[in-house]
Amino acid sequence: MTTAHQQHVLPSYLNPDDLGPWGVYLQQIDRVTPHLGSLSRWVETLKRPKRILTVDVPIERDDGTISHYEGYRVQHNMSRGPGKGGVRFHQDVTLSEVMALSAWMTVKNAAVNVPYGGAKGGIRVDPKTLSRNELQRLTRRYTSEISLIIGPNKDIPAPDVNTNEQVMAWMMDSYAMIEGNLSTGVVTGKPISLGGSLGRREATGRGVFVVGREAAAQRGVAIEGARVAIQGFGNVGGVAGTMFSDAGAKVIAVQDHNGTVVHQGGLDIAQLHKHVAEVGSVAGFPGAEAFLDRDAFWDIESDILIPAALEQQITADNAPRIRTKIILEGANGPTTPEADDILTDKDVLIVPDVLANAGGVTVSYFEWVQDFSSFFWSEDEINARLTHIMQDAFKSVWAVSQEKKVTLRTATFILACTRVLQAREVRGLYP
Ligand SMILES: NC(=O)c1ccc[n+]([C@@H]2O[C@H](COP(=O)([O-])OP(=O)(O)OC[C@H]3O[C@@H](n4cnc5c(N)ncnc54)[C@H](O)[C@@H]3O)[C@@H](O)[C@H]2O)c1
Repeated sequence: MTTAHQQHVLPSYLNPDDLGPWGVYLQQIDRVTPHLGSLSRWVETLKRPKRILTVDVPIERDDGTISHYEGYRVQHNMSRGPGKGGVRFHQDVTLSEVMALSAWMTVKNAAVNVPYGGAKGGIRVDPKTLSRNELQRLTRRYTSEISLIIGPNKDIPAPDVNTNEQVMAWMMDSYAMIEGNLSTGVVTGKPISLGGSLGRREATGRGVFVVGREAAAQRGVAIEGARVAIQGFGNVGGVAGTMFSDAGAKVIAVQDHNGTVVHQGGLDIAQLHKHVAEVGSVAGFPGAEAFLDRDAFWDIESDILIPAALEQQITADNAPRIRTKIILEGANGPTTPEADDILTDKDVLIVPDVLANAGGVTVSYFEWVQDFSSFFWSEDEINARLTHIMQDAFKSVWAVSQEKKVTLRTATFILACTRVLQAREVRGLYP
């Protein structure tokens, strides 16, 4: 029965039979709601994005034909500051996915207490099917279409899957042409030569390592000699792998889109990076002692498991087989709520995405601050500030999880959603 207070049913633009990643996010919000006290009367704010822009992105192909792509920019919540979140180019991008990613940005930014709301963007395209010039035209047209709602004080995009420094440079240039001024602060993750920040490329993987070290200390796992398994060896997984290996851990297994390599004595990570740079995948790495099928990756026993590829990788199907002590979510949304429960029952400590991979947006924040003042910091300064913020965030989340006897995910949501809804409440509703 629908009462006056429960009148907020699903928005009509969602398919109730297949909510996709947005459905996962809604379940996470339902779990935190009982812990929000009087702020829970504002919780509906978190269950619907503030603003959704769907755009048509037409480009002229190199052969003279015209192609149209579906693009989105979702601003989930801006109570605490301008929108912030990446832009993904992928053939499977959907509105549900961009909505969920934008909401996780709201939570993440509040969790590490950077003064941003949450946003995300995407184009439903496989960029491998485009030439460099087509990609540039696509990026510029998309930027022009969303320029109505982005800006250094409104919403600041950044790279995500299949977008990089070059794409950010094109976005910044397109926006600057429209606005008639330099506007370096409109995007982060830019090349250093265009107001980018030292340490940004490594920031997410570094953050995963920093919180991993804290979690290991709590669990009594020594990093020296710890067995680490990583899914995804790109920006996040690759950097995290290097940092764990440099700290004396043994990276015993790595999986990417094309293969799974194993060495129980520890893979040589520097050599593995060279191999990936040459052939595009970990597959066939001569330093491996075994090559496994895709699904067998989840059977490898480890001390620390780092999913750093895609969403919904750890599910009710494979969670019962996973034998590890700590999961560090480098990817966004890699664990379904059902898998979360199974692993928690098995006493696996899960450091959630909204905390574990927040290092990237933290250094994006540093980049934005540096651009505003046109005063650039040293890499040591950036890494030290990043480490400090990540350690502080972990300690706060840990304290909440102990006090309330909840998982680190729910604890992070409690901390973050409280900050967001406090801002909402104190601002009040306009008009
Ligand atoms: N880059 C960042 O700063 C950042 C920040 C926060 C979160 N993330 C998240 O981290 C994840 C990875 O991002 P990235 O920037 O490292 O991307 P990336 O494109 O650099 O690397 C992705 C890696 O995942 C692998 N992969 C792709 N499909 C796979 C599959 N089906 N099975 C196994 N491996 C597969 C790829 O081979 C590659 O090694 C994404 O979920 C992203 O949203 C990234």
